[in-house]
Amino acid sequence: MYIKRRRGWEIPDQHATPESVFLNRRALLGSAAGLAATSVFGTGPAFGAGDSYPATRNEAYTLDRPVTAEKFSANYNNFYEFSTSKTVLPDANALKTKPWTIQIDGLVEKPFEIEVEDLIRKIGLEERLYRHRCVEAWSMSVPWTGFPLAKLVALAKPTSGAKYVQMQTFMNKAVAPGQRQFIYPWPYTEGLTMAEANNDLAFVATGIYGKPLANQFGAPIRLAVPWKYGFKSVKSIVKISFVEARPKTFWEGLQAQEYGFWANVNPAVSHPRWSQASERVLGTDQRVPTLIYNGYGEQVADLYKGLEKERLFV
Ligand code: MTE
Repeated sequence: MYIKRRRGWEIPDQHATPESVFLNRRALLGSAAGLAATSVFGTGPAFGAGDSYPATRNEAYTLDRPVTAEKFSANYNNFYEFSTSKTVLPDANALKTKPWTIQIDGLVEKPFEIEVEDLIRKIGLEERLYRHRCVEAWSMSVPWTGFPLAKLVALAKPTSGAKYVQMQTFMNKAVAPGQRQFIYPWPYTEGLTMAEANNDLAFVATGIYGKPLANQFGAPIRLAVPWKYGFKSVKSIVKISFVEARPKTFWEGLQAQEYGFWANVNPAVSHPRWSQASERVLGTDQRVPTLIYNGYGEQVADLYKGLEKERLFV
């Protein structure tokens, strides 16, 4: 299997663009945004934003640091379907995200398909402030709009045989140049245990910064699991399957020794090629210590009792 080529989000910080250069580039992009906001941030709303956004903020979810400005988070993205660089625009804007149907299947009472807009109407939206920690050792803090994954699980009515939730990204080589590269195990697939999926922190995001997700963030619907490395937060989901066996994930399929199923944030377990002890805060010149479970241990540590022998954190 091909594994040697370095992927953009694997670049250890010491090999990454020096902070000063990075910040200058960000500043440039920031001023460009002032001149032509739409071309920098994408085409904006994927579907009728009017009624649902901005959603009421759920004040139970707070941050220990400022929200990352959109001009930084919207121009520093991982979306391998479109590019292995951090600049996924304008390629990502080629994806048509309206209408968008999600298939729910596997071990459920009755498989069904649902439009994202209908899903939003059925479940409703709220806003939550979450930290996001990429396995590359950078982080951001953003206001997601969406709903708890547990509500979607309830709607799907899984049967007792369901042990995992598997989520898949769209597959369309015509619009996603990355998917023409056969070395990757497309489509991008991720998974959670049923207990993880039902944890209140597991969130399905349809918006960010008070508006529908722009394409580079994974429009029109993605996952946000803030206690795990960012690669678990699969973008542009088209299929959610309830399964008995642990799904093989995209990065596990590519490089299992470096990217495991659990991927819980842990500063004590280094990536084979770099330390996870600290993180660069996107849009600042700060490096801060990384926290176990990305600071969400109180809500999620119980999920892993009895699993100590598993490779929980890689
Ligand atoms: N989902 C898909 N389909 N394709 C990807 O390449 N990258 C992951 C995750 N979800 C990725 C994906 C990684 S490595 C991270 S860190 C986050 O998306 C980045 O999310 P952001 O670009 O919104 O910051």
